[in-house]
Amino acid sequence: MSQPDLFGGAAPAPAAAELSAPERAAQLRELLHAHAHRYYVLDDPSIPDAEYDKLFAELQAIEAAQPELLTPDSPTQRVLGKVLDGFTPVRHAVPMLSIRTETDTEASGAEAFDARIRRELGLTEADAPVAYAAELKFDGLAINLRYEHGVLVTAATRGDGEQGEEVTQNIRTVGQIPLRLHGATPEVLEVRGEVYMRRDDFEALNERQRAKGEKTFVNPRNAAAGAVRQLDPAIAAQRPLSFFAYGLGEVKGWDVPATHSAMLDALQAMGMPVCAHRTVALGATGPQGLVAFHQRMGALRDTLPFDIDGIVYKVDSRELQERLGFVSREPRWAVAHKYPAQEQLTQVDGIDIQVGRTGKLTPVARLKPVFVGGVTVTNATLHNLFELRRKRVRIGDTVIVRRAGDVIPEVVGVVAGERPAYVPNFRMPAHCPVCGSTVVREPGEVDHRCTGGLFCAAQRKQALLHFAQRRAVEVEGLGDKLVDQLVDSGLVRTLPDLYKLGVMKLAALDRMADKSAQNIVVALEKSKQTTLPRFLFGLGIRHVGEATAKDLARHFGQIDRIMDAPEEQLLAVRDVGPVVARSIRTFFDQPHNREVVEQLRAAGVTWTEHEPSAAADAANLPLFGKTLVLTGTLPTLSREEAKALIEEAGGKVAGSVSKKTHYVVAGEEAGSKLEKAQALGVPVLDEAGLQALLTTAGATPPEVPTQE
Ligand code: IVH
Repeated sequence: MSQPDLFGGAAPAPAAAELSAPERAAQLRELLHAHAHRYYVLDDPSIPDAEYDKLFAELQAIEAAQPELLTPDSPTQRVLGKVLDGFTPVRHAVPMLSIRTETDTEASGAEAFDARIRRELGLTEADAPVAYAAELKFDGLAINLRYEHGVLVTAATRGDGEQGEEVTQNIRTVGQIPLRLHGATPEVLEVRGEVYMRRDDFEALNERQRAKGEKTFVNPRNAAAGAVRQLDPAIAAQRPLSFFAYGLGEVKGWDVPATHSAMLDALQAMGMPVCAHRTVALGATGPQGLVAFHQRMGALRDTLPFDIDGIVYKVDSRELQERLGFVSREPRWAVAHKYPAQEQLTQVDGIDIQVGRTGKLTPVARLKPVFVGGVTVTNATLHNLFELRRKRVRIGDTVIVRRAGDVIPEVVGVVAGERPAYVPNFRMPAHCPVCGSTVVREPGEVDHRCTGGLFCAAQRKQALLHFAQRRAVEVEGLGDKLVDQLVDSGLVRTLPDLYKLGVMKLAALDRMADKSAQNIVVALEKSKQTTLPRFLFGLGIRHVGEATAKDLARHFGQIDRIMDAPEEQLLAVRDVGPVVARSIRTFFDQPHNREVVEQLRAAGVTWTEHEPSAAADAANLPLFGKTLVLTGTLPTLSREEAKALIEEAGGKVAGSVSKKTHYVVAGEEAGSKLEKAQALGVPVLDEAGLQALLTTAGATPPEVPTQE
C-alpha cells in the first residue's frame, strides 16, 4: 500500500483526542476515502463495515456541529461507487436509495419510528394505527433489474444511487433471477433487490480457493460483489449467487398493489424470489410486533443459510409512503434495525497450533476477547500456513474476525499499518507441539500433519471425542474436558481403554462427583449396543464419513469382510473411489487398528451385523440406489427426520445436486440447489411427493433418470 499510515486511525486513534475539529475532519475524510476506495473499487476492504460506519458517523457529527467544516469533497456529500473500467454506466430512471439505521434496537426504537411516522403524517391518537411491513436486511449488494414487456433487459448495480454499472451478463448467470416474468408483460417493471451468496456456497467457494492455494474471499457479501462485477461472465457463473426482491424502481403499465406486502406477493407470483421471513405488524401493537419479529429473526439468524445484518421496517401502505417522501437519500417511511456485527476488530495475542483427529495442524489465532456475531470470541482459525501467509497475519496485529452462522470464527484479514516494530514471521513447527513426532506436508497438499497417529495425545483425544459423539457410538457426557483429563492422566490411551474405566477411577479425577462418574459408566455400558455403520464411522478412518460407513455396512454386512476386503472389492461400494478405498485399506492394514477392533469386541461392544442376505433385501427397499438432496424447509418434517426416512427406505442423502442426483426434495426457501436441479433436469418433489415415494415399496417411480 502506498500510504499504509493512512489506515493507522482505523482503530480509535489515540491521536484523535488531541486533534482540533478541523484537523480531525480532514483526517476522517482521508481515511474514509482510502477505505472506500479499497472497498468499492478494489473489493478488498481493510476494516469491518461497522468500523467504517463509526468513522463516517463521527465525520457527520463534526459537520453537523460545525457546518463551515463541510467540504464539497467530503465522503458524506459524495456518494460512493466508482464505475470500473470495462462496465457501461447506467443512469437509474428512479434513484436507488438507502435506509436510515435506527441505533436503538429495543422496543423503544420501533416505537420511536412509529411515533415519528405518525407525527409526520399528522395523525393523532384518535387515528387508526399504521401498518408496517418487516423484512430481513440482506447482506449482499443492491441490484436493479429492468424488465421491458416482461423480459429482463438490463441489470445494474446501485453505484452512487444515480448511476450504476451495467452487469446484465453476470446477472443472467444467477439462476434464481427470471429472464422473463411469469404471466406479466408490463411496459416497464424495475425490480430491486439484493444479490447475495449463501453461506454454504461461500464456504465451498473458499474451500476450493484454499485447496488451489488461491486468495479466499473475506465474506459472502464481498464474494457476491466480486462475482457481480467480474468482467468475465464465465468466472461469475462459477460463483453461485442468489437473489431476493424487496422493492421497485421505474414502473409503466402495471398497477402497483396498494401495499408493500401485496407488491412482494405479486412479484413472487411473477417468479421473483421473495424471502418468506416477513410479516406485517398491524394494530395498536404495531411497534411491539416489529420488535418481536426483530427478536425472532435474531434467534434464527445463525440458522439462516445467508447473512443478514438487521431487519427493515417499512410503512406498508404505498399511499402513505408517497405522502412521507424522502429526506436526502433516505425514505422517511423505512428504517433498519441492525444486529450485532459479524465482523470486528481485535488483536492477535499469539498463534497456537491445534492438532486434529487426522493429525492436521491448524494455526489458530489467540485473540483479545471480542464480541462478534452475538458471542465472545477468543480464538479464530487461520486455516493453514499458506492462508496465514497470504493474509500476512503476525502476532500483535490488529485483525478482522468474522463469525457468522455456526461456522467457526476465522481471521479474514489484517488492518495494515498497525504492526508493532518487529515481529518474526510465523513458522510451522517441524515437530508436533503435542507429541513431538515429525510434521510433514504431502506434495500438492496445503495441510501440515503430525505423523504420530494414535501415539499423539491430541489425535487420541480427538479420536475419543469422535468415537463418543452422538452420530457415532454415543457416550453421553464424554466431552472434551473429561477426555483431556482421561488422556492427560494416562487413564485412557486407546478406545478400548474407555471400557476399562470404573466408577472408582473416574471419581478419582478432579471435579468429578460420584454421581457423574456413575453416569459415565452407565453411558459407556449403553454405548456397547451399537450398529455397524455407527461403529465404523466412530473408528475415525480418514475419508469415511457417516454416509460411506452406511454404504460399507450395507454392502459387506460384517466388519470382518470390510477389514479383509482388497481395494478392488472396496471400489465396488457405491461412492467409494480410489482415495477412500486406499484409506480404508491402509487403516486396516495397521495391526494396531485391527487390535482396537478386537479389543472393543472383547470389551463387549456389539453391533447388529447384517447377514449378506440383508444386503440383497436392501435392493427391495423403495429408495434403494437412489440419491436425494434436501433443500429448504419442509412443512412437517425436520431435515433430520426426512434424512432418517430416506435412509430407512434405502436411499442416500447427498449435500449437493449433480447429474447423479435422482430427486431433489424442496421446501420453503429452497435456494441454489433447487435452481441447480431445474437446470440439470433433476425431478423436484415436495414433502408429499417424498412421502409418496417412500410408500411405493419396490416400485420404480416414473421420472427416475437412467442411472449412469
Ligand atoms: S429497501 C427504500 N429492503 O440495504 C430503500 N433494502 O441501506 C431501498 N437492503 O442498498 C432499500 N435488505 O442493498 C431494502 N429488505 C431490504 C433490504 C435492503 C438489504 C440493502 C440494500 C440497500 C441498503 C440500504
